[in-house]
Amino acid sequence: MSTIDDLKRIVTGRVIENEPMAPYTTLGVGGPADYFVEAPNEDELSDLMLYMSEHEIPWMVIGDGANLLVSDKGIRGVVIKLVGEFTSITVQGRRIVAGSAARISKVADMAAKNNLSGLEGVGTVPGSVGGAIVMNAGTHRGYIDEVTEGVRAVTSTGEKIALSRDKCGFTYRNSRFQYDKSLIITYAVFKMKPGDGTAIAANLEAVRKHRAETQPQGKSAGCFFKNPTGLSAGKLIDGAGCKGMREGGAVVSEIHSNFIMNAHNATASDLYTLAEKVRKLVKDIQGIDLEYEVRRVGQW
Ligand code: EPU
Repeated sequence: MSTIDDLKRIVTGRVIENEPMAPYTTLGVGGPADYFVEAPNEDELSDLMLYMSEHEIPWMVIGDGANLLVSDKGIRGVVIKLVGEFTSITVQGRRIVAGSAARISKVADMAAKNNLSGLEGVGTVPGSVGGAIVMNAGTHRGYIDEVTEGVRAVTSTGEKIALSRDKCGFTYRNSRFQYDKSLIITYAVFKMKPGDGTAIAANLEAVRKHRAETQPQGKSAGCFFKNPTGLSAGKLIDGAGCKGMREGGAVVSEIHSNFIMNAHNATASDLYTLAEKVRKLVKDIQGIDLEYEVRRVGQW
C-alpha cells in the first residue's frame, strides 16, 4: 500500500497529494505539502500520529495560517488540518471548551452571548484557537494565556493527554508548543468571569473597529516581528525609514510598519528577503535585533 492509500484508510477527512499551501495562509504564499490531511476527531488524529511515528513521516499542523510564512518549495511530509469536531465551542457554566480549529473571534462572540468575560483581548485577533494558544496571541488588552485553564493534546505517538496552564510554558507571544514538537493541541479550556454580555460585545466591536483603522487590510500575517521589551517594533521599523519599502510583490505597509504585506503576487522569498532587509536596517539604525513573530516553515 502507498502512503496516500494508508492515509486515506486512517482518516475520513480529505487527503490530498501535492496540495499548494498558499490558499491556507493569510499571506497567500507557499508551495505544496507532500500530503495535506484533514483530521476530524481525536480518535482519527491519534491513529494518524501513530502511523506517522511508525513510518517516520515528518508532519506539522496548520491552523488558520494567520501567522505562517510557508516556503515557496513547500512542506515535506504531512500537513495536518484539524476540522469537524475540532471546530466545536461548548459553554459549560463559566468554562468554555473550544476545539483547536474554532475561530478565536467566534469563541469570544459566543462568550459575550453567554455573559462571560475574559476573551476580549484576544477575540479580535485573526486565527484559530490552537494557533492562538501556540502563539500566546493577544493585544494590549489581554493575552490568551490569562484565561486558559488547560488544553487537551494528542502526542506524536497518538496518546491523548491533558495539560494544565502551568504546563503550557506561556510567555510573551510564545508557549511550549512552539518548541515541543511532540504535541498537537486539540481543545482548550477557558475559565471565564461573569460579565455583561452587551458591554463585552460592545468592547469587542470597539477593538475590531480600532484595529480596522490602525492596521492594513489585505494579505498579511499580522505583525511580522515581536515587540522588543518595552519597545514597539512598528515604531522602530518606521524610524528606520522602512515604510513603503518593496521587494518583488512584497511591501512594508504604509499604515503599520510591522505588517509586511503580499501586495502583488509576492513569493515567500520576496517576503523573507524584505523582512531581512528591514531587520538589518533596524539593527544598523536603531541598534535593536528584531525577533520574528511570524513562523517560517517548510523547506527553505
Ligand atoms: N507605530 C509607529 N509606526 C508604525 C506602527 C506603530 O510609530 O508604523 C507606533 C504607534 O503609533 C504606537 C506604537 O507604535 O505608538 C505601538 O503601535 P500599536 O498600538 O499599533 O501596537 P503594536 O505594539 O505595534 C501590538 C501587537 C498587535 C496588536 C496591537 C493592538 C505585537 C508585536 N503586536 O502592536 O498584534 O494588534 O498591539 O493591541 O505585540 C499581531 O499579533 O499580528 C498584531 C498585529
